[in-house]
Amino acid sequence: MVVGRGLVLRRRPRMWLPTDRRAALPRSPETRTAQGKWDSMDLLTRRLLLRDCRAEDETAVHAFISDPGVTRYTAWGPNTPEDTTAFLAMAMSEARRSPRIRFSLAMVEREADVLIGLIELRNICERTRRADLGYVLSPDWRGRGYAIEAAGAVLRFGFDLGLRKIVATCDPRNEAAATVLERIGMVREGYLRDHVQVRGQWRDRLLYAVLCTDESDLPMPRDECVDWADVHTDGDLPEPALA
Ligand SMILES: CC(C)(COP(=O)(O)OP(=O)(O)OC[C@H]1O[C@@H](n2cnc3c(N)ncnc32)[C@H](O)[C@@H]1OP(=O)(O)O)[C@@H](O)C(=O)NCCC(=O)NCCS
Repeated sequence: MVVGRGLVLRRRPRMWLPTDRRAALPRSPETRTAQGKWDSMDLLTRRLLLRDCRAEDETAVHAFISDPGVTRYTAWGPNTPEDTTAFLAMAMSEARRSPRIRFSLAMVEREADVLIGLIELRNICERTRRADLGYVLSPDWRGRGYAIEAAGAVLRFGFDLGLRKIVATCDPRNEAAATVLERIGMVREGYLRDHVQVRGQWRDRLLYAVLCTDESDLPMPRDECVDWADVHTDGDLPEPALA
């Protein structure tokens, strides 16, 4: 593929999936239109654009990840302004890495064009074909199924990258997070005692996971994940994860 500055290129990530399955992945004209507006990766769902983070996201992101109510059960935060700057710098640097082992994506509500949360597929490991899922939503946008929609799409994306297992953990008191994981088809595999130290205290974690072999049973139909992982750039193409 010829790559030149100023060109908008699209390409599927290279995957371990058989070609016939790749060909069956849905495409939408809408996606192609949206692609002109953003660099790098776009993942579209019915109501959301999941895209790479940018420096200009700082104010919107910091508004919710600095909120102690939001981070009550998370292993990180509440963020200082410096923490948020460092997080976005990390996310943007990871987006340039080749192959990618972390997708830290902004959740953008498409109709309102507002950044409403963050979702991550991280610790992508080619050897174990495993990765972790994490997400956070602004309190202003809770209770409308956005976390379920985003997390369901990222699961599909992870399997399209060739992952075998996607794992998530949450504080046992974090019922909203556990409900999201169950609603997207993840299965509770265990109870991890004193698994993380959070703000000076040892915390338990529920362990959830899903295997690619469970994919046909996932509650979210594939065609609700409008399109996935079209990579475009006006410069050099980043390598996909698990190349
Ligand atoms: C976890 C989080 C993203 C969920 O956001 P949300 O807007 O409630 O998510 P959704 O609307 O997509 O779905 C939430 C589901 O959990 C349910 N739920 C929400 N709050 C709940 C609560 N306190 N107890 C039980 N269930 C709850 C909702 O009813 C919904 O299920 P339903 O569709 O069957 O009704 C949000 O609470 C958050 O950002 N929390 C802080 C960060 C965090 O904890 N992240 C997870 C780390 S593992």
